[in-house]
Amino acid sequence: MTTAVQLKTRELKPGFGAEILDVDLARAEPDTLAGVVDTFHRHGAILLRGQEMSPKQLVDFVALFGEPEDHTQKQFTLPGHPKVFVLSNREADGKPIGAHNDGVGWHTDYSYKAQPVMCTMLYAVEVPDEGSDTLLADGCAAWNALSPERQKELDGLRLHHSYQHFMATREFGRQELSDELKRDNPDVEHPLIRTHPADGRKALWPSTGTVTEVVGMENPKGLELVDELVEFMTSEPFVFRHKWQVGDILMWDNRCTLHTGTLYDDTKYFRTMHRLWAKGDAPY
Ligand code: SIN
Repeated sequence: MTTAVQLKTRELKPGFGAEILDVDLARAEPDTLAGVVDTFHRHGAILLRGQEMSPKQLVDFVALFGEPEDHTQKQFTLPGHPKVFVLSNREADGKPIGAHNDGVGWHTDYSYKAQPVMCTMLYAVEVPDEGSDTLLADGCAAWNALSPERQKELDGLRLHHSYQHFMATREFGRQELSDELKRDNPDVEHPLIRTHPADGRKALWPSTGTVTEVVGMENPKGLELVDELVEFMTSEPFVFRHKWQVGDILMWDNRCTLHTGTLYDDTKYFRTMHRLWAKGDAPY
């Protein structure tokens, strides 16, 4: 029987996230891996430094959290590894090997799907000496910081998310969608306040890019409300900034966080990351 081992950890930020110390994921025993999964579910995000993981080991690891999810833009998956998406500014044979600046702008992954991904994992293959930090915002802390009156006003509101809108308006990687991508990604609605299935804790859960309106509220009022809440949730008290080293694995729970990548000098540096997702449930 597998029993989750209690691991040595330190908080990424008071009350949010955990860095797991002294674990070599490629060689860890099942009890240790169960401890890693357990730590993730309790803390909303985990960091493990100094890992050496092949693409197959990354897929096996993310499968401990849930079924690995496919990627919408198939052209940037790693050859032979469809569950591993490449973020990179490198080219091979004159073509980009990955999506560049793909995650810049506060968002939660796959919010345009009826069942957005539960978690995102990034593995650092090569990183710039400066810039390209990843920022995570704690939606539970932001929700808990609101007054009971404000919580009452917001609870029950729903957001309309659209992949077509996102891809037509985004700053980086804007594109006209094929008929197939349009068909496979119809618009969806999700709650603005998300309940975590593990323990019922609530999180502010707005996003940018995919949101076109607050259901039942005229624009610009609706989008102004979304902007106001994103600004609040991503303000300093609720944000952890991760500075990358090669071999880092950072994972976060998309059900209670927002995240964003940041820019770097891509004339001077290369950045290559492997991104994997585990499937999630319909938000409620
Ligand atoms: C993402 O949003 O999936 C990637 C963020 C990053 O590249 O730092």
